[in-house]
Amino acid sequence: MNRACMAVLILMSMAASMWAAEDPTQSLYVQKCASCHGKDGKGAPAMAKMFKLEMALFDLTDKATLDKKDEELIKITSKGLNKMPAYETKLKAEEIIALTTYFRSLAPSSKPK
Ligand code: HEC
Repeated sequence: MNRACMAVLILMSMAASMWAAEDPTQSLYVQKCASCHGKDGKGAPAMAKMFKLEMALFDLTDKATLDKKDEELIKITSKGLNKMPAYETKLKAEEIIALTTYFRSLAPSSKPK
């Protein structure tokens, strides 16, 4: 094998490992949402205590959340609701849609509507 060929192979394997390393939606969720909703989507107990709210409100994997349509969840994330901050000026519409799909995937019994 010649050097050029070798270099191409090395570059390709580097690109492949970078691709697999990180899901951008997951890191966005961890940065922006996990502080309140928990890394697993079940809610952060410390936040529930601080806001004096039920854990169920923070749980994005419970039936109350799963029963809502994507449009509703996207609207809440965009416009906010009570203590839930509005993200329409902080995130792109595509990011909010991707985050909705992401936290739905955290629920073990999630079924697409
Ligand atoms: C400062 C804490 C906080 C952060 C950060 C936060 N949320 Fe929330 N979120 C809440 C609270 C509190 C509620 C419950 C609102 C209510 O019903 O009164 C909520 C509710 C929701 C709901 C509605 C769930 C339902 O069952 O109706 C969605 C969807 C949601 N959040 C998505 C997100 C996403 C996506 C992010 C990250 C971009 C995020 N939240 C970041 C506090 C937060």
